[in-house]
Amino acid sequence: MARPTSATIHTDALRHNLGQVRLRAPGSQVMAVVKADGYGHGLERVARSLVNADAFGVAALSDAERLRAAGLSQPIVLLSGFDEPSDIARLRSLAVDTVVHHRSQIDMLEQAEAGDTIRCWLKLDTGMHRLGFAPDAIRVAHARLVALPGVVGEIVLMSHFASSDEFDGGPSGGCKTREQMRVFAEATSGLAGARSLANSAAVLGWPDAHAQWVRPGGALYGMSVVEGSIGGDFGLRPAMTLSTRLIAVNRIRKGERIGYSATWECPEDMDVGVAAIGYGDGYPRAAPAGTPVLVGGQPTQVIGRVSMDLMTIDLRGVAAARVGAPVTLWGPDLPVERIAAAAGTIGYELTCSVTRRVRVVEQ
Ligand SMILES: Cc1ncc(COP(=O)(O)O)c(C=O)c1O
Repeated sequence: MARPTSATIHTDALRHNLGQVRLRAPGSQVMAVVKADGYGHGLERVARSLVNADAFGVAALSDAERLRAAGLSQPIVLLSGFDEPSDIARLRSLAVDTVVHHRSQIDMLEQAEAGDTIRCWLKLDTGMHRLGFAPDAIRVAHARLVALPGVVGEIVLMSHFASSDEFDGGPSGGCKTREQMRVFAEATSGLAGARSLANSAAVLGWPDAHAQWVRPGGALYGMSVVEGSIGGDFGLRPAMTLSTRLIAVNRIRKGERIGYSATWECPEDMDVGVAAIGYGDGYPRAAPAGTPVLVGGQPTQVIGRVSMDLMTIDLRGVAAARVGAPVTLWGPDLPVERIAAAAGTIGYELTCSVTRRVRVVEQ
C-alpha cells in the first residue's frame, strides 16, 4: 500500500484569499508572492489558481522560468534581484522584472550589452536592514537607473517591513512600521513611480501602507503571522490540509514510556496510535507532546518525540481509534498557526517544509 500521507491544496481557498486581499486593498494592484514553491503549495498550481493576480513575486530566476514554461504571461518580479551579469540576459528573454537593491546590480546593468529592455523595482532599506539602498543613497541609484536606455517603464519604489504584524494602534503601537513609512516617504519624495510596501500583515493591519502595489504571500495561503491569531480571524481560508492515517493502535501499560528518548510516560493503561507522518514529511520534530492533532476529526494530542516517518498519538477518549483512521495534522479544522506556535515557529515554515515524498492532491 502507498504511504497514506498527503497534502491537499485547496485552490478555491487560494482564490478566496486573493479576493479578501482585494477587498482590503481595493486601490492597489496585487503581486502574489509565490516564492518557495508557493509557500510549499506548488508554484505552478498556485499561479494558475491566482491567474487574476496583477503580478507574481519569486525569489529565484528558476521559478520565473517555471512560470513562463507553464504559460503564465503575467508580470513576474524577481524579489531578491539578480546576482550576476548572465542573469540579465535571462531576465530580458523571460520578460521578468527585477528588484534592484544594491549598487553592484546597477554596475552590472550599466555594463550589460545592449539587448531587450528590463523593468526595475528599486528597493529602499527603511529599517529592516536586510536588502535595499540606504535612504541617502536612493536618489543616486534612481538617477543611475533612469539614465540607462535599457531600463524602461516606471521604476517602482519599494521597501519591506520588519514588524508589520504589530498593527497600527495595537498594544505595541506599531512604532517600527510607522517609522519605516516615514523614512520611505521622506527618502522618495518627489521621485516618480508607483510605491510598494505592504506584505500580508500590512495588507491586514496597515491600510495607510497599501499604496499602488501590495505584495501578500502568507495571506494568500490563508495564514496569519500576527501572534495569537489565525488566518480565519481575518476572513482567510487555509489552502493546505496535511493528513495521514493511523497505521497501528497499541495498548500500552501505565508507566511505560513512548518513543525516542522515552520522553512521555503513560499515566494509565491506554491506546496509543501510530500515524504515518514524521519530520521526513515536514512535520516539525520540535512539536512537543500536547501539540494538537485530529483523529477522525476529533481533537487529541501528539505524545512522545516526532520521529522521521512516524508519530505517536494519545487515543484516550478518541472514538475513531482504529488502524486506518484519518489523522489531520493541519488544515481548515486545525489551523497550522496552532501547530507552529507549539513548535516555536510560524505557519509559513511548516507549509514550506512539506517534503517531496508527501503526495499532493489538488482540490
Ligand atoms: C520583499 C517581499 N515582499 C513580500 C513578501 C510577502 O510576505 P508575506 O508572506 O508575509 O505576505 C515577502 C516575503 O517574505 C518579501 O520578501
